[in-house]
Amino acid sequence: MESTSYKNLIKAEDAQKKAGKRLLSSEWYPGFHVTPLTGWMNDPNGLIFFKGEYHLFYQYYPFAPVWGPMHWGHAKSRDLVHWETLPVALAPGDSFDRDGCFSGCAVDNNGVLTLIYTGHIVLSNDSLDAIREVQCMATSIDGIHFQKEGIVLEKAPMPQVAHFRDPRVWKENNHWFMVVGYRTDDEKHQGIGHVALYRSENLKDWIFVKTLLGDNSQLPLGKRAFMWECPDFFSLGNRSVLMFSPQGLKASGYKNRNLFQNGYILGKWQAPQFTPETSFQELDYGHDFYAAQRFEAKDGRQILIAWFDMWENQKPSQRDGWAGCMTLPRKLDLIDNKIVMTPVREMEILRQSEKIESVVTLSDAEHPFTMDSPLQEIELIFDLEKSSAYQAGLALRCNGKGQETLLYIDRSQNRIILDRNRSGQNVKGIRSCPLPNTSKVRLHIFLDRSSIEIFVGDDQTQGLYSISSRIFPDKDSLKGRLFAIEGYAVFDSFKRWTLQDANLAAFSSDAC
Ligand code: FRU
Repeated sequence: MESTSYKNLIKAEDAQKKAGKRLLSSEWYPGFHVTPLTGWMNDPNGLIFFKGEYHLFYQYYPFAPVWGPMHWGHAKSRDLVHWETLPVALAPGDSFDRDGCFSGCAVDNNGVLTLIYTGHIVLSNDSLDAIREVQCMATSIDGIHFQKEGIVLEKAPMPQVAHFRDPRVWKENNHWFMVVGYRTDDEKHQGIGHVALYRSENLKDWIFVKTLLGDNSQLPLGKRAFMWECPDFFSLGNRSVLMFSPQGLKASGYKNRNLFQNGYILGKWQAPQFTPETSFQELDYGHDFYAAQRFEAKDGRQILIAWFDMWENQKPSQRDGWAGCMTLPRKLDLIDNKIVMTPVREMEILRQSEKIESVVTLSDAEHPFTMDSPLQEIELIFDLEKSSAYQAGLALRCNGKGQETLLYIDRSQNRIILDRNRSGQNVKGIRSCPLPNTSKVRLHIFLDRSSIEIFVGDDQTQGLYSISSRIFPDKDSLKGRLFAIEGYAVFDSFKRWTLQDANLAAFSSDAC
């Protein structure tokens, strides 16, 4: 007899097949970000380089553009740029994952692609805490079809823990280790976020080692998080990085402006002890960046991809039957106690026509330009020393009637500002990152049909800060301008490339 989850998998696969490439022509559908063929996407899951190909799984609900019982969608790529959508990898419905196959990871276990994920079960609809979460396994020989192996870790660190999810597994000195997020409650039933550490010799029997780190229970909620989701633990440069997504931190100044955060703590790792050496630092400064996952590329680069959206943010593309996409893959480096992120160099293969303007000087003026497609890469070098303007930067995706996305250097605040208040449908708000203390600021920008990603560098280092936000402009909003307000602005170099639509190209060449 066919199991419920097998039937659910066939239904999900049908929904995906039926959608075909219908959505690829929708106004906001990305050209070079991984996006579901239909329905809803959230966290990246199971990122891995396996048998010569990159695999990316994701939290997926193919039946509607809203969050629902979670499946694992699946895509693979040879170059990190063109992603082929594969059959849905996991569907919920078994006793251990009845209401969702939640986030998790992938490991290569002697040639067997092994997924470790959270089985989510709703015990009652009366409370968000009436849930049971266990860690489960699924395996595949061909890297496409998965066999569920059931529960591998049932017990949370303490019996009263209900929120216990998002396992991340790695191998070190012939032992398997796992970090998992969990929540305890204080006497007022307010949560405290933690990450647990487990160990195994065979991926199937796990021993609780200790709590790797937890938030400070003495702090009031808001200064501490009620849950730490999607942990990852890895080394970068000479440090160990605990990356996670805390829920419940309150905005303060420029920090924690999004509903939930995504960031890291650096420290020293002497198994099984992690000694934190820095405070929590957010990874990205934009509106839409969450649940990032990292993996090692074939050449040893550490690469990160995040969900390019945020819980409860407006999602105007729901109108067209889809919601959510992934950020660009970013290479991670550690510089001066800080993670810097740069888009992977493979992105360059999408460059088509190139437009280069060297030295644009504006004095309280504007320099208009037109883009021949919404898919653009821009490199702009701004000479801070020679410029006096109060504000100077770019207006992008403008329609000449007030629709525009502004990115500018603000000398009074010493910050780089992204203003999406007039960026099109629904989404609003301002985000900013520090202005590097440097003579030249480099802005490396990727515009897709519904997003902007900005990588900020100084004289020496690229990717010191990134700002990633979704925008929903009209498809023919293709004007732009450089501008300087109150004073001089010297742009040393202004390069633009129109980028190919990798999603369309990948779809046309794959078999699905
Ligand atoms: C993070 C998260 C995870 C969970 C998944 C469910 O965005 O809440 O903790 O596994 O999404 O879709």
